[in-house]
Amino acid sequence: MSSTPRLTVTGLKKSFGSNSVLHGIDLAFEPGQFIGLMGPNGAGKSTLIKILAGLYSADEGTIKLDDETVRNLGSRRECGFIHQDLGLIEDMSICENLRLGQQPMKLVGPILNLKREREAAAEAIARVGLDRDVDTPVSALSPGEKTLVAVARTLDRGARILFVDEATSTLPAADSRRLTDALRRTVDDGATVIMVSHKLSEILDDTDRVVVILDGEISTDEPTASLDREGLVERLVAKESEMAVEGEADACEIGEELIALEAACGGRAGPVDLVLRGGEITGLTGLPGSGLHDIGFLVHGSMRPVSGRVRASRKIRRALVPPHRETQGGIPVSSIRENLTLSSLPRWRGFGRLLALGQEGRDAQGMADELNVVPGDAEGPYGVLSGGNKQKVIFGRVLLKEPQVYVLCEPTRGVDIATRMEIYRLIRKLRSKDVAVLVISSDSEDLFSVCDRIGVVDDGTVEELVPAEEMNTQQLEALV
Ligand SMILES: Nc1ncnc2c1ncn2[C@@H]1O[C@H](COP(=O)(O)OP(=O)(O)O)[C@@H](O)[C@H]1O
Ligand SMILES: [Mg+2]
Repeated sequence: MSSTPRLTVTGLKKSFGSNSVLHGIDLAFEPGQFIGLMGPNGAGKSTLIKILAGLYSADEGTIKLDDETVRNLGSRRECGFIHQDLGLIEDMSICENLRLGQQPMKLVGPILNLKREREAAAEAIARVGLDRDVDTPVSALSPGEKTLVAVARTLDRGARILFVDEATSTLPAADSRRLTDALRRTVDDGATVIMVSHKLSEILDDTDRVVVILDGEISTDEPTASLDREGLVERLVAKESEMAVEGEADACEIGEELIALEAACGGRAGPVDLVLRGGEITGLTGLPGSGLHDIGFLVHGSMRPVSGRVRASRKIRRALVPPHRETQGGIPVSSIRENLTLSSLPRWRGFGRLLALGQEGRDAQGMADELNVVPGDAEGPYGVLSGGNKQKVIFGRVLLKEPQVYVLCEPTRGVDIATRMEIYRLIRKLRSKDVAVLVISSDSEDLFSVCDRIGVVDDGTVEELVPAEEMNTQQLEALV
């Protein structure tokens, strides 16, 4: 195994136009270290990694591998980058994806030694703990398995310093575990791993060192062992006012039944029996492929049951925060206002059915202010917002619709700690006798933070719903 160079970054600065994003980053990464890189959405984590990868150029600063000054690390075989877009080709096999761009293994002359290529691929995926036939097309893999293939490919090309940018934020707990275990093994083997994540437990359990970027500066650089959960949250949250007030969810009178699934089947879900009443926040969790999100679509009405029934009074307004923000959430080329008001336009229908544009604009701006969307001009484009801010806009759209039934899928996926707390507050504020909320999430923290009762979805059906106070995270994760 080749040795791992020491990576040193000095005085790195970067602005986009008048927006100064990184103002002087100094960091040194030792071999054999697992580093958690944290910070709010928009703090500059990805910008730093993209500069190191050579995708952006720095305005100032130097990058060194051992004593050698380099322009960037993008073309260095000892450095590997796993971006959120994994760069895999879906309809090619694991083996083909691994071998892509590498010297072909030859038998004689131009004849490929396919057997050796397949053996090499099998070894590479075994190193990251993936047990799959290497002829399996990548499209057939779970999101977690795809990430493992990307890691295997990077390691197979000789990478000793690995950057992993928010790869776990879209993964269910079990897949995140496999990935961090694989990364841990490479670190134990002498490599350096720099992993960006918003997940506190992951960072606390798996890393050796925590680096926090706040507003383009390193605000924390400490051994993980010296931090507990509370200490880490304190370091991540810039303003006192953003600190979590975890308090008990307010009790609320239970209202009448608003929607009921009766042996409803659709997509991978079913048969499902589920009754949602006003005043209750219900949480469902399960593995991808369990039909979890399809239950949300059935409740929302965007999927019709192929058998069974979804019983709801016709007048009930329902609204959905979809699970895949990037593809189902918003319209990138439209403004924040248009994305906010999109599904409740009749609200602003005035004289002669014309839209009361002024009022629509004021209401949209009011919502953007209330949700603390940054940048906060509602006429600005939606497409360039950071993930957490996009999530707030989609929330705002759902709030403006004032539904009686909320279906919130993966409400905190990929958002930073402060936004997560804000979203929890928003969800708790929805609790009223006439409103039912269904939270569907693979993140158990979502369920324990806001839900009154929690159920596990397995093979399309909802097991028993248990009051949240009668369960803890370990018990829940064991059931999933
Ligand atoms: N290509 C770009 N052009 C203009 N601004 C950018 C670009 N990439 C990132 N930014 C800005 O840089 C800041 C930091 O973004 P980013 O590094 O993606 O944050 P993080 O990864 O910490 O969430 C944000 O304000 C973002 O809008
Ligand atoms: Mg980022």
